Amino acid sequence: MPETGPDIQDIDTSRPHPARVYDWFLGGKDNYPVDEELGRRIAAIDAGSAPRTARANRAFMRRATRTLATRHGIRQFLDIGTGIPTEPNLHQIAQSAAPDARVVYVDNDPIVLAHAGALLVGTPEGVTEYVQADARDPRTILERAARVLDLGRPVALSLVALLHFVADEDGARDLVRTLVDALAPGSALVLSTMTADFEPENVGKGIAAYAAGGVTLVARSHAEVGTFFAGLGLLEPGIVPVTDWRPDEPPAGGGPVSLYGGVALKP
Ligand SMILES: C[S@@+](CC[C@H](N)C(=O)[O-])C[C@H]1O[C@@H](n2cnc3c(N)ncnc32)[C@H](O)[C@@H]1O
Repeated sequence: MPETGPDIQDIDTSRPHPARVYDWFLGGKDNYPVDEELGRRIAAIDAGSAPRTARANRAFMRRATRTLATRHGIRQFLDIGTGIPTEPNLHQIAQSAAPDARVVYVDNDPIVLAHAGALLVGTPEGVTEYVQADARDPRTILERAARVLDLGRPVALSLVALLHFVADEDGARDLVRTLVDALAPGSALVLSTMTADFEPENVGKGIAAYAAGGVTLVARSHAEVGTFFAGLGLLEPGIVPVTDWRPDEPPAGGGPVSLYGGVALKP
């Protein structure tokens, strides 16, 4: 359990928070009993699929980031919904491929701010910055990101395991459109988000368990996820379960992963 941090007094330990439940799924220590309780409830519903999905999602983020840095020459990264630092973090992947990579992290949870120091230790040639902001306020994010990133040059925008916390009526589609519209040609969108296409019953129960903890979760179909990529050129293999996006190790097994992922370039 965290004991120190810049905004520790803002951390609400009376109800679960997505970043901390996810940290619990990943075996981290930056969560509270209320987060663990929800994590255990979800794990009991889906027979351990959530921790496996969280690990698969991190691996997708690593492969996508590495691909964009090494094969597409992207040197700027805007990661919204960063989560509690979990090594290797996105900047470590990007800067190991390109030491001069510049990375802006964004999250709205004070627990992430409290641990943001770990996100700011990068290469001497590169830059890492942390912005405390809400994804539903993309204009503020762009304004803050532009202090570090040159938005006239390609940026990889990462919305990894974020959008299932933002319903369409809360602006999920508008925020993606506003952010993508602000990026230069050659920029990329990396996105993963939850689906009920494979395990509708378990995912439905998981959504209900999160809702009981006061957290809204949205599952989206393959077609609905596809609309986030409108106007962009999807890289192969398209929108697939995150485990199937250019895997670099043999499948871990254990059943389906209820998270679609895709990477696209802006023409
Ligand atoms: C499941 S974690 C994903 C962390 C990381 N992107 C990854 O894939 O490993 C989701 C993160 O999104 C953040 N988040 C949820 N809603 C948000 C919002 N409206 N604005 C900014 N961050 C948000 C949560 O605080 C949490 O850290």
